[in-house]
Amino acid sequence: MDTMPEKMIIRGGTKLHGTVDVQGSKNAALPVMAASILLKDGTLSLEGVPDLHDIRTMCDLLSDLGASVVFNGHSMKIDVPDKLKTDTPVELVRKMRASSLVLGPLVARCGRAHLPLPGGCVLGSRPLDFHLKGLAKMGADIELRSGAVEAAAGRLKGATITLDYPSVGATENLMMAAALAEGTTFIENAAKEPEIVNLAEILRLMGSPVRGDGTETIRISGVPSLHSATGEIIPDRIEAATYLIAGVITRGAVTVKGISAGFMEAILNKLEEAGAAIDIFGDEITAKSDGPLKGITVKTLPYPGFPTDVQPQMMAALTLASGTSVIHESVFDSRLLHINEFKKMGAKIEVQDNVAIITGVPALAGAEVCSSNLRAGAALILLALAADGESTVCDLHHVWRGYEGLIEKLRSLGAEISYQG
Ligand code: EPZ
Repeated sequence: MDTMPEKMIIRGGTKLHGTVDVQGSKNAALPVMAASILLKDGTLSLEGVPDLHDIRTMCDLLSDLGASVVFNGHSMKIDVPDKLKTDTPVELVRKMRASSLVLGPLVARCGRAHLPLPGGCVLGSRPLDFHLKGLAKMGADIELRSGAVEAAAGRLKGATITLDYPSVGATENLMMAAALAEGTTFIENAAKEPEIVNLAEILRLMGSPVRGDGTETIRISGVPSLHSATGEIIPDRIEAATYLIAGVITRGAVTVKGISAGFMEAILNKLEEAGAAIDIFGDEITAKSDGPLKGITVKTLPYPGFPTDVQPQMMAALTLASGTSVIHESVFDSRLLHINEFKKMGAKIEVQDNVAIITGVPALAGAEVCSSNLRAGAALILLALAADGESTVCDLHHVWRGYEGLIEKLRSLGAEISYQG
């Protein structure tokens, strides 16, 4: 991945048409890469890994700990030696909250971990309390000292852990910790996302008898060690949704290829409810619209509910609906910051607590707008594609964290995009 531009200029108004291939899932690849830490003198080989800034950051983190990572195209080979460092570098952890996914594997495999409290997107507080409470229940000593987590343990013990909330990251960290624990762990109120199932599939390939993934109770019987494996990363349902909405918001027709509609039911149902035409044919999904959408109500929820990672993109599409829409962001306590940028293009949105009321307008006007996080940036690009005239979208480093080949893909659909620097 060469250096990507920080700014792009989009001339709006073109109806997008065509087909794009879906990338591997960022949110599946990151925990699976962290799971390689569970190996001692072993290799985890992966296919279908997307080439993204966050993936590169995880490669750097694993290398810093002592693994050797070879990443070519979408294939990755992670060789893990017998000895690993257990201190994670603050500059990498601050770049990406998903760095916290090395915590469980490090404590389980090395008996220790030092993790500076992560940074990441501006989505609200985003603590790690569920992760830490679960590890403590498995016998780890957890201390918070000068902005870092100090975790230490002998061999972790299997436990029954009930999550206060079906946290994706906490479920993943605890699954990986449980894989090497002594005895059986039950994770109750577990996250059910497809990315959890992908992690479980690969843990099974490495020799961990995980059961119940994709349901609210996951059972893992610990084993003394895991072995090398080769696994495949599932397609990215959030990227796929973003391109389908690009087709709808520009009143064209976009097909995404290489994705299971089963991962996207809540998204497709809401697009249809809003009046878009959805066509599913094998591993291809087409979304089209030849007029304004209808106003609808959306509430973001843990899987299989409507995903919070598609909330900004759906909101973008609804700014041009022929009615009023209500979007309730229930997963994060501050994931509506993009609304201020939407208003610069003429969107009519009011916010009360975590509920946005969107009054549809007949047209938007191009403007200069800035991304505040990954999905907000993607949503601003969607707005710019539909707005009249020219828009400039800045701070694109957020977008390159999660969208591989975005400019090429949008241009292949007919988008008029140029970029600077
Ligand atoms: C994962 O983040 C995803 N990231 C996020 O995608 C996604 O938005 C989120 O799950 C929800 O689906 C990756 O998979 C790398 P959570 P994660 O733990 O694990 C609170 C993107 O755009 N919480 O399910 O951090 C938390 O603050 C990113 O690709 C606690 O209170 O999400 C939030 O309000 C953005 N304590 C809620 O739970 C904890 O210990 C859900 O968070 C952990 C979480």
